[in-house]
Amino acid sequence: MTATRAQFREAFIEEVRAATDIVEVIGEHVALKRRGRDWWGLCPFHVEKTPSFSVSAEKQMFYCFGCQTGGNVFTFLMKKEGLEFGEALRLLADRAGIPLPKADLDPEARRRQEQREQLTRLLEAAVEFYVKQLEQAGGRQARAYLARRGLEPETVARFRLGYAPDAWDGCLEALGRRGWSPEMLAQAGLVVETTDARGERRYYDRFRHRLMFPIFDLTGRPIGFGGRVLEGAEPEQPKYVNSPEGPVFSKGRNLYGLNWARDGIRRAGHAVITEGYTDVITAHQAGFTHLVASLGTALTTQQARLLLRYCREVVTAFDADTAGQEATLRGLEVLKQTGLRVRVAMLPDGKDPDDCIRSFGPDAFGRALENAVPLVEYRFRRAMERQDTSTVQGKVRVAGEVVPVLAGLESAVEREEYLKRFARELGVDPEALRTEVEKARRGQARGQGRGRPGAGRWKIPAGTDKLAVYRHNKEEKGNDGKKLGVYRAEQQLLGLMATDPGVARRVAEAVGADGFSDPAHRKVAAALFAWANAGGAEGVRPALLEDDEAAQALARATFSFVEPPDRDRLLEDLLARVEAARRYKRIEELEGMMRERERRGEPVPSELLRELADLVRSAKGRGQPARGPGAEKR
Ligand code: CTP
Ligand code: MN
Repeated sequence: MTATRAQFREAFIEEVRAATDIVEVIGEHVALKRRGRDWWGLCPFHVEKTPSFSVSAEKQMFYCFGCQTGGNVFTFLMKKEGLEFGEALRLLADRAGIPLPKADLDPEARRRQEQREQLTRLLEAAVEFYVKQLEQAGGRQARAYLARRGLEPETVARFRLGYAPDAWDGCLEALGRRGWSPEMLAQAGLVVETTDARGERRYYDRFRHRLMFPIFDLTGRPIGFGGRVLEGAEPEQPKYVNSPEGPVFSKGRNLYGLNWARDGIRRAGHAVITEGYTDVITAHQAGFTHLVASLGTALTTQQARLLLRYCREVVTAFDADTAGQEATLRGLEVLKQTGLRVRVAMLPDGKDPDDCIRSFGPDAFGRALENAVPLVEYRFRRAMERQDTSTVQGKVRVAGEVVPVLAGLESAVEREEYLKRFARELGVDPEALRTEVEKARRGQARGQGRGRPGAGRWKIPAGTDKLAVYRHNKEEKGNDGKKLGVYRAEQQLLGLMATDPGVARRVAEAVGADGFSDPAHRKVAAALFAWANAGGAEGVRPALLEDDEAAQALARATFSFVEPPDRDRLLEDLLARVEAARRYKRIEELEGMMRERERRGEPVPSELLRELADLVRSAKGRGQPARGPGAEKR
């Protein structure tokens, strides 16, 4: 069954690809000029003055010789617009007027997708309804409120703010007239369902007499609402009522404002996370277009992933009391763990960004963002403020708070810098602090079960042989054989394969996809094998690679491939190198198995020893194979 579904999907991807011209799509984002067989322009992924970005209609791929970003039409949109593959596919299908297939989904998935599409249409109708209410007589108070808060009409229109009328059935009635059932309205979270005294179902508007903030997903589809209380409401009313979690609304998976902030975040190189709807809106109006809000939850990994599509750094701008809370700090650790750098802005007077901009002006807010400090520093400051550092106990407590944070820093240089500075400010001996940090680091390493790699009796003494070089690169630099030229060799091999299905078949026999050491290369190899087996006629098949890294690797391989004087010799040479790398890998595997047995006090089987000895002999004995002509050309 799954195979059929995968085939459907592939056929659909191919249909969309065939109806799409990569030159045209990229041409909408980049000014392209024809030179030779390809199109050239200024790379949208790095700053440059002379064009090194090329698009090939023939290969249906793009590649930048400057920053080495490349891929197919789908991955171009993924990178440029920060989309997932499916989103890019949908966009191009829309563009080409190809309806989304429902046939490739199982009935349950199809039902869910239809439900989501219907709810999206309903929520869009609700956004329009609330916007209209704001413009009408009943919305006068809300309009006045917005004006008092300094929100301009263009801002109100852009963020599609609205007003929920002061009635129990305003939305129920209006959308009911347009054919939406109370059950659907309840599913969308717009009305609440109850049972009356006689056990009958009743529905009433969830949002009443509230200022409405529609919430959109990153592609701009409405997913829910936040409704703010207005003056004159009963005092026990909560300040905000939000849509409940449902089939389309999930707080933890979205960030308020991301649909408007994507470009701003990319331009700034970082995102600013704040808490409130109004913070985002006021900031955008003031020109800070890289703000998003967390929707009032602790930050989640999914939210971090959303941001990672656009930037590598996040500045948080929470008001002072929330910023210090443990829950918030944990949220920031979540961001850090996904690889985002985190800095914390300290806003004057404990205000939120909206207050800050309105009372002190945009410049003051801008300065606070610029002066944001790294998380480590922030934690240290906070500990210093909370403890009495004139006492030994106070110092010990501050040290106790910062040691784990320091120990968690991966860069030794960074660790050392902070350590020295904190020791000085705290008035303790840096040596003492260093000892604590080292101890904590050993503890953390053990906790994660990673001792020093390669430690143990089975480690082969480092000499000057290839094997030692490989091992050194891998252990010290975390570099999987790149220094040996294996990575480059694999790339060339892929480039060669892409020009000739016969070569691809030959490589399939000789080393197979698993013979490639780089994961993206393995995917490309598998795609090229499949293409070769299917006849290899079209040449566009591999241009459909969904995986961004694989598509990039293929673009790099094909665009940087230079026709060698002697193809056969180059092929043999490259195969030998790739095989050598595979041998190194196997050696490591064997060593790992031996260490494991040793640790458990089990004997090491002689076959393992023999295999290892053979491999080591051939790995050392065989030097770098002769370079094929043009092998190192770019
Ligand atoms: N929030 C919520 N429910 C509440 C209070 C707050 O969902 N009862 C969320 C909202 O997303 C809100 C954010 O937390 O935007 C921050 O709350 P708060 O600082 O109280 O509101 P502000 O956004 O600052 O609103 P205003 O400036 O209008 O007071
Ligand atoms: Mn506020």
